[in-house]
Amino acid sequence: MPTREQTQGYSRRSFLTRVGATGGAGAMFATMGALGLAPSAEAATKVPFQPPSPSDFRLKGRGAAKVLVLGGGVAGLAAAYELGKAGYRVTVLEAQDRVGGRNLTLRGGDRLHEMGGETQRSRFGEGTYFNAGPARIAQWMTTMDYCRELGVPLEVFTNGNAEAYIYNESAGMKAPVKWRTAKADVYGYVSELLAKATDQGALDGRLTAADKERLLSFLSGFGAIGSKANGYAYTGTDRRGYTIDPGAGEQPGTLLGAPPSLSDVFASGVGRSFSFEFGYSQAMLMFQPVGGMDAIPRALAKAVGRDKIRTGAKVTKITNLAQGVRVEYVVDGRTRVAEADYVIATLPPQILAKIPHNLGAGVQSALAMPVPVSTGKIGLEYRRRWWEQDENIYGGITNTDLDVSTIWYPSYGYHGRGGLVVGYYNFGGAADAYATMTHADRLARALAQGAKIHGDRYRRDLAASMSIAWRRQPHIEGGWISWPSRGAEYRLLNQAQGNVYYCGDWLSYEIAWQHGSFESARKVVSELHQRVLAS
Ligand code: ALA
Repeated sequence: MPTREQTQGYSRRSFLTRVGATGGAGAMFATMGALGLAPSAEAATKVPFQPPSPSDFRLKGRGAAKVLVLGGGVAGLAAAYELGKAGYRVTVLEAQDRVGGRNLTLRGGDRLHEMGGETQRSRFGEGTYFNAGPARIAQWMTTMDYCRELGVPLEVFTNGNAEAYIYNESAGMKAPVKWRTAKADVYGYVSELLAKATDQGALDGRLTAADKERLLSFLSGFGAIGSKANGYAYTGTDRRGYTIDPGAGEQPGTLLGAPPSLSDVFASGVGRSFSFEFGYSQAMLMFQPVGGMDAIPRALAKAVGRDKIRTGAKVTKITNLAQGVRVEYVVDGRTRVAEADYVIATLPPQILAKIPHNLGAGVQSALAMPVPVSTGKIGLEYRRRWWEQDENIYGGITNTDLDVSTIWYPSYGYHGRGGLVVGYYNFGGAADAYATMTHADRLARALAQGAKIHGDRYRRDLAASMSIAWRRQPHIEGGWISWPSRGAEYRLLNQAQGNVYYCGDWLSYEIAWQHGSFESARKVVSELHQRVLAS
């Protein structure tokens, strides 16, 4: 789970949200201006998306145009799908032999080739899948609307789980701590401190007598702290958990015990993990398609029509013409040419920057500006669901400061025979380090790291594994991108260049989410359609 530092999108929005919360809209817009993010009229009024419809042409007497969509990922498929609703003649050119782009679900028998590296062959068992790309959807995201429209069944994806762990090795932790325990202790001590300060009058400049009373009442419940007579002390409660769970009759259970000292709790750094689930995009409930995230591109491709999607077609040149666009692409080693009225280019900017075009130096330097972000995952299939049987963990994520960053337990197949744990989902330098290794070395390292949390069982009963390093995926070469600043270059590529439109999550305010791809596709489709109607 990326922190604010890990995607520009997050860091900026979180920052602006804080500015907005404390300084009001005026302060927020001033800050946005300073960051080169001054909102346009578009930002102030988000028009609900209206899919193009054949009837639009009947009124205007115009005909639908021919559109080439470059890239069969979520943005490209969504653009093709929406244009198809109005009868546009759409062809999707996709370099890989599959659709979906970064929306990749790996199953038994799949092959995964890495640039300059090995090809892994999946030995996952029947019914096991590994979402190597996107794996969670927030309820507010447009992705949910497409799942509804396309009939993609969803189930809850457990993003936060009190039974999962936090483990910060660099803070000297000797054992992982459950999220529930970490929260009880951090909330407890923070509440104790704030209650004491309030009671001693340290906040009298800010709080009325009534405010103080209400705050103390809130802290009593929030932190499970003692009364005024007890100095509001946090001494731990059953929120921390049990070593022996409560039973019947004379078995009240055995509590985990007294919390570590306030100083030790803060030194462990466990509280740093908490803000993750406050994020607008990461809060529970979250969702996943039943059976694998690639249900989304599969449903889109079906709705577009397989005959309109050409896989194995690598784009090599884009030429904007006075009327239309010409695209050269290579299939089976042979160069072909396609012409259309418009192109929607949805490839990642780092790929587009390598494809010759005649759109000018400004476009070229804008395409070269976004910085690809590394990310990687490993899927570990086990014959036994030890995380459920031995540790009571049913889905959710363990957060660590190890180079594996996070360990994910499956939100499907509960109580089944086996299951797939994501042994790492990491970013930046850690992802780069794993990317340089062979799969066997990644696996050995991931198992050694995970064993620090789960012990020897982490190595036992392993059935199969696969890893991905997104910087090394052909035709993609990155997990997502970050804009050094969303300035003139971002705005330039968000406008049509001649008859070429750029599109993708990288041109949205939700980079690294399918939502961003869908929103960008809708924006471009709306603009293109308006232009066709007006032409
Ligand atoms: N959307 C990506 C995630 O959920 C970045 O981690």
